[in-house]
Amino acid sequence: MVVVLVIFLFLVQAQLLVISKNLTCNSHDLTGLAGFMEGLESPIDGWWPANSSSLYCCNWVGITCNSSSGRIVKLQLPSKRLVGHLSDSVSFLDQLTTLDLSHNFLSGPLPISLFHLTHLEAVDLSGNGFNRVLPVIINLPALQVLNISDNNLRGFLPVGLCVNSTRIRVLSFAVNYFTGTIPPPFGHCSFLEHLSVASNFISGIIPDFLLRLPGLKELSLEDNEFTSISGIGDSFSRLVHLDVSFNRLSRNIPDFFHNFPNLSYFSAQSNNLSGVIPPSLLSSGSISSLNLRNNSLVGSFDFKCSKLVNLSSLDLGSNNFSGTIPANLASCPKLQALNLAKNKLTGQIPESFKNSESLSFLSLSNCSFNSLPSTLKTLQYCPKLTVLILTMNFFTEQLPADDHLQFKALKALVIANCRLTGSIPSWLKGLTQLQLLDFSFNHLTGTIPAFLGSFNSLFYLDLSNNSFSGEIPMNITQLQSMISRDVLLEEASPDFSFFKIYRNMSGRGATLQYNQIMRLPPLLDLSSNLLIGPIWPEFGNMKKLHVLDLKHNRLSGTIPSSLSGMRNIETLDLSYNDLTGTIPPSLVKLNFLSKFSVAYNNLKGIIPSGGQLSTFSHSSFEGNPGLCGDFFVKCQEDQDSSQTPESEDEEDGDDEFFILRLLVLIGFGSGFLVTVISLIVVPRIR
Ligand SMILES: *[C@@H]1O[C@H](CO)[C@@H](O)[C@H](O)[C@H]1NC(C)=O
Ligand SMILES: *[C@@H]1O[C@H](CO)[C@@H](O)[C@H](O)[C@H]1NC(C)=O
Ligand SMILES: *[C@@H]1O[C@H](CO)[C@@H](O)[C@H](O)[C@H]1NC(C)=O
Repeated sequence: MVVVLVIFLFLVQAQLLVISKNLTCNSHDLTGLAGFMEGLESPIDGWWPANSSSLYCCNWVGITCNSSSGRIVKLQLPSKRLVGHLSDSVSFLDQLTTLDLSHNFLSGPLPISLFHLTHLEAVDLSGNGFNRVLPVIINLPALQVLNISDNNLRGFLPVGLCVNSTRIRVLSFAVNYFTGTIPPPFGHCSFLEHLSVASNFISGIIPDFLLRLPGLKELSLEDNEFTSISGIGDSFSRLVHLDVSFNRLSRNIPDFFHNFPNLSYFSAQSNNLSGVIPPSLLSSGSISSLNLRNNSLVGSFDFKCSKLVNLSSLDLGSNNFSGTIPANLASCPKLQALNLAKNKLTGQIPESFKNSESLSFLSLSNCSFNSLPSTLKTLQYCPKLTVLILTMNFFTEQLPADDHLQFKALKALVIANCRLTGSIPSWLKGLTQLQLLDFSFNHLTGTIPAFLGSFNSLFYLDLSNNSFSGEIPMNITQLQSMISRDVLLEEASPDFSFFKIYRNMSGRGATLQYNQIMRLPPLLDLSSNLLIGPIWPEFGNMKKLHVLDLKHNRLSGTIPSSLSGMRNIETLDLSYNDLTGTIPPSLVKLNFLSKFSVAYNNLKGIIPSGGQLSTFSHSSFEGNPGLCGDFFVKCQEDQDSSQTPESEDEEDGDDEFFILRLLVLIGFGSGFLVTVISLIVVPRIR
């Protein structure tokens, strides 16, 4: 032991001699680091005592020293998966300017002494497990950035913060359990530019002293329990970004937007706001993204497009707006995304929309619009229209067959749940860019046209719950995007900032699940029609397909063993058809299969076991008198013997993946399809 120590000291000495230019660690700082490390459950790679360079702690990963004083000024260890707690001895690091320990697993209370490191300028401890309350006194006079978001902190927001730390620019308390109100001393934060308390339990009024802070540009108050928003008199605000969504705000939106000449983003979605949109908002020259979705707003909305020169994204979905769409809405020069879904709007889309040069995403679903022919005629002239969602309108009208219709840029077309009659029109042939087509839940008849198979980008095709007849055209199995290509929409939508979608888990609309969906799955849904003929072996080529639903048709023949080629399939539903033969053993190779049914056919023989197939219950196979195996009678030479299925609750949820149908049925979020689709793109652009 002693020998080792001697050798160690010798090495240290030797190093000192060899590289005398290296900064040596201040002994006071070393004590602080030692204390810091003591709080951790496992050491940090490259830190003492793992090697002998303790005297050179300035070279350790995550540490920055001041080159003249040699004191530690920054401690930055984000995302190192540190576990433990911060010990009080960090206070020895009293020259710290930056402390960044974000995204580790540090837990426990924040050490009191941390708040006495008088030189700290930036603290980032976000994404850890710190709990309990913040100290009442925070004495960090040099502090400019404090990010303690995404921890388990509770109690009140620190009252004295800006009193002692007058230079704070950035404050984030987001995603914790803070309660109480915004403390009035926050009104002293005169250098504050960015404040987030999002996703806490802060209540009371959104105070005027906050809205009036002279330097504040970004204020994120979403997902709290605020009940009202104060006016700000004649003062002027520099706010650029104001998010008060997902609170409990009620009554009218204050008519104060003339005091916010720079406000470009305003979201108040999902509150209980009522009344009309205030005049100052209807004519805001700065606003670019406005989201008032999911409130109880009424009246018409007469946007002054001559003034709204920056408006690009407008989400008014799920309110009680009534009347017709004002004709001049189309003249907002930059309007790209418009969601009016789920309101009490009636009439037709104004012809003025013909001239809308920028309109790219439009949802009008779940209103009471009529005249699908005139709607399509008008909108076909929007040169940039990419996503069009018209679900739940035009009830019992006929899908127009007008050959002159053309939508050159259209990538997503959704006209579902309208009880439309007619057949798939030939003008659809011109929509060669189409990536997503949903005509589900209508009364369409005729055959499924073979030309759909040549849409190279189509990855989501839902024609379910109609009365299509004839065979499934074999060309459908040649859809390129379901075979090989990963499709993306190149165009990003402007931000409808929340992209939450309800998914119907039971298939019956009884339970709804809240979901954030980054991508729609490649899907082919032809269920609940009158289709006959075989399941083509070529379906096995559709390697990219995630959902194949052919249930409730009159398909016959055998299940091709080539279906095992659908390597990414998650849902395969062939139930309620007239299929014969056996279940091909090759299906055990479908590794991602999580929903599977061949129930109610005329299949016989042994249920193959292994792989995912062994995970399904009897309901996936029932209604096939000739099947034998686990759930049924033991397999014998003669497999015709009668069988008594175990009584088990029938599983439902065939509809789990029918996201679009949900958009349709629930009428929410059709606008969010827009965002969903944009999300397919956005991460790839970055
Ligand atoms: C001293 O600095 C040199 C570079 O200047 C570096 O290669 C060496 O590893 C440092 N020594 C110690 C003990 O950290
Ligand atoms: C709509 O707003 C209410 C609160 O008013 C909220 O509870 C609900 O989750 C919101 N719905 C959606 C789809 O955002
Ligand atoms: C869809 O089709 C299925 C099967 O034919 C039927 O049970 C269901 O009621 C249909 N749904 C609607 C909304 O028409």
